[in-house]
Amino acid sequence: MLDIHFYMKSAELKNQLMGQELKDKQYLMTKLEEFRSKEPFVYNIETTNACNMRCEMCPRTTIMTRPIETLDMKTYRKIIAQIRPFLDTEWQRWENFVEKYYHISRNDMSENHFFLFIIPRVIVLHGYGDPLLDKKMPEKIRLLSERNIPTYFSCNPANINLDKTIEMFQNGLNYIKYSIESVDDIRHKQIRGNASNYTDSYRKILKLLDIKEKRAYKTIIVITMLNLNKPWQEDEFERLRDAFKDLDVYIYLKSQDQQWYQNKNEGTKSIHWLEFCQFPWSSMTIKSNGESAMCVEDFNNEIILGDAKKEPLYDIWNGEKYRKLRQDHFDLTLGIKCTARCDMNLIGSLAKAQSR
Ligand SMILES: C[S@@+](CC[C@H](N)C(=O)[O-])C[C@H]1O[C@@H](n2cnc3c(N)ncnc32)[C@H](O)[C@@H]1O
Repeated sequence: MLDIHFYMKSAELKNQLMGQELKDKQYLMTKLEEFRSKEPFVYNIETTNACNMRCEMCPRTTIMTRPIETLDMKTYRKIIAQIRPFLDTEWQRWENFVEKYYHISRNDMSENHFFLFIIPRVIVLHGYGDPLLDKKMPEKIRLLSERNIPTYFSCNPANINLDKTIEMFQNGLNYIKYSIESVDDIRHKQIRGNASNYTDSYRKILKLLDIKEKRAYKTIIVITMLNLNKPWQEDEFERLRDAFKDLDVYIYLKSQDQQWYQNKNEGTKSIHWLEFCQFPWSSMTIKSNGESAMCVEDFNNEIILGDAKKEPLYDIWNGEKYRKLRQDHFDLTLGIKCTARCDMNLIGSLAKAQSR
């Protein structure tokens, strides 16, 4: 979930900021604090950081050194008891806002549509791991469904277990995303490692689509390929799209983030990555050990703002560590991951550019 109210309230300010109108740092800090909800919103809960892939574009593959953990049910229950779903009226306002502000129709199907019309409403249940390796996923889905909170996670289709997936469909999973990098098994393994595959994954997804249709499950099956800017990328995505042509899937090509990891600077089409980083004002991340980290991208849990095992989310979100993180984004504090290892613009670099 994202704090859609923060996005709506800060829209005009964002226009001014992006449009190079002068705004001093102190003014921006005061305004963002005014727009920030005191109520915490949770972007994602990393159900597990276990993964059997070796993806070339993922920092987890070589530099994630934290222990492998799966979030225990007690902590999970405690966290989700502190989250509420958006009211229909709130969501309606948001959809109208997005169409007007971002010029994206609610009926579209694209990376930015997914980010604006789906992500803000769901709890993302992945982080740096593969949720299909977490045996408790069906139960974790059920508990959120019981609270009317929509659910979504991304995973590697090579790990599909048909029975477990059907159980998740039955338990009300709203979106499941399968990451596919090629329609060729050899190329797929080159990008995501030996445990990945295309042929077998494709067969299992077709089977799930068939079961979904017969039993009228509502889960939306999402297929994404990452745009790694390979010479063959566009053709490969077309082949993938052809493979799923006329099937009941939501499919799109996703921009690559974490480009610093591969010393690349190829740009992005993602609105999320083009705007300044709003995580410190819009939503929290809970890691597989229960810690609250600065965002989903913190692969080694380097900036920890609290512990959901011990503290209420409200206290973490409104606490001193979060205040300092927000300040760091303005000050472009050196030596922290947000300035050193993230492609996203920090508000401080925009505010600084303005005062030159
Ligand atoms: C880190 S993965 C974890 C979930 C699962 N293991 C998977 O691969 O789908 C979460 C999502 O990030 C995507 N991803 C991985 N590396 C990425 C990168 N460098 N830029 C953008 N997305 C990336 C994956 O395709 C997936 O959709």
